[in-house]
Amino acid sequence: MTTPDDLDLAAQQSTALGALDAADSSEALEAFYRAWLAPSGVTTRLKRGIGRLPAEQRAAFGKDVNALHTELESRFHQRREVIKTRELAARIAAEARDVTLPSRPRPAGAYHPVTLVMREVLDVFQRMGFSVFESPHVETDDYNFGLLNMPADHPARDMQDTFYLDGERLLRTHTSAGQIRAMRELGASGTKPVRVVLPGLCYRNENITTRSEIQFHQVEGLLVGRSVRMSDLKGVLLQYARLLFGPEQRVRLRGSYFPFTEPSVEVDIRCTLCAGNGCRVCKQTGWLELLGAGMVHPVVLANGGYDPAEWRGFAFGMGIERTVLQRYDIHDIRYLFGNDLRLLQQFR
Ligand code: PHE
Repeated sequence: MTTPDDLDLAAQQSTALGALDAADSSEALEAFYRAWLAPSGVTTRLKRGIGRLPAEQRAAFGKDVNALHTELESRFHQRREVIKTRELAARIAAEARDVTLPSRPRPAGAYHPVTLVMREVLDVFQRMGFSVFESPHVETDDYNFGLLNMPADHPARDMQDTFYLDGERLLRTHTSAGQIRAMRELGASGTKPVRVVLPGLCYRNENITTRSEIQFHQVEGLLVGRSVRMSDLKGVLLQYARLLFGPEQRVRLRGSYFPFTEPSVEVDIRCTLCAGNGCRVCKQTGWLELLGAGMVHPVVLANGGYDPAEWRGFAFGMGIERTVLQRYDIHDIRYLFGNDLRLLQQFR
């Protein structure tokens, strides 16, 4: 209901502007709009009250009401901009992140020394055209022993006692277990040559001492072809030693025995520490044991799917930990598996 007082436009204007000034949030502004400018608001009601004025005042009053409406509307928009800007600034301040704060340090990891040496070794063989072939750590008795010419009661098994999962499955004692798998998988039934290195952990039931652990890494090499000779084995190993230890490096082959190679050799390198003069590391001999090797035994070739009358191969297997201990002058193999950060952090 409009009373004559309401029609006092000057009073209405000052009330409205006061209310607008007091509105200091989006919500308060909304309320102002509903009260004054919306179709249900005061200015609309004033326009409706025109009819109750004396006829001669109506035109002037209508004009004034319209002017009031327009003024309030434009003040309302101005005010809304101010409030919006202020509210945005407040939100930005509240949600601000200090990007100049130093970040939380993220400790950088490092490769284990065994991994470092392993990578180097594999890299050298890959440069010579060998590819990497991975085979399972859990092996069958056959792959680990039987097919490598070590039948159940072969005395050579005594040197490689291991951990058995059941009557047939065991943890491999050497990467040689992968030889048969590589020949069978890559040899295409004895029709294609094979040139692979097989890296990985091996396991043996050993007393743990400064020099032996129940787990250790080996890298196996296997090359099968139609005209492979002992001199090829020697050439590859010499090249390997020179790429890894320097162009002057020498190697030495000594006769040995493995059931799965014939003939078999142990391969030594000139001591990398004393250059052959004799020191603590080489026990005054001037030489360091590097690996076991030999020409793949005909029985093993046959088990791999090859006709031993047509195909030959050489194989070698080396322990990685020994090189790691020598390279970094670590005196106890147990450090390598102790997960002691004081050791590991030195390889960052
Ligand atoms: N598998 C043998 C070992 O663990 C090493 C070896 C590999 C010897 C290949 C000859 C050929 O002692």
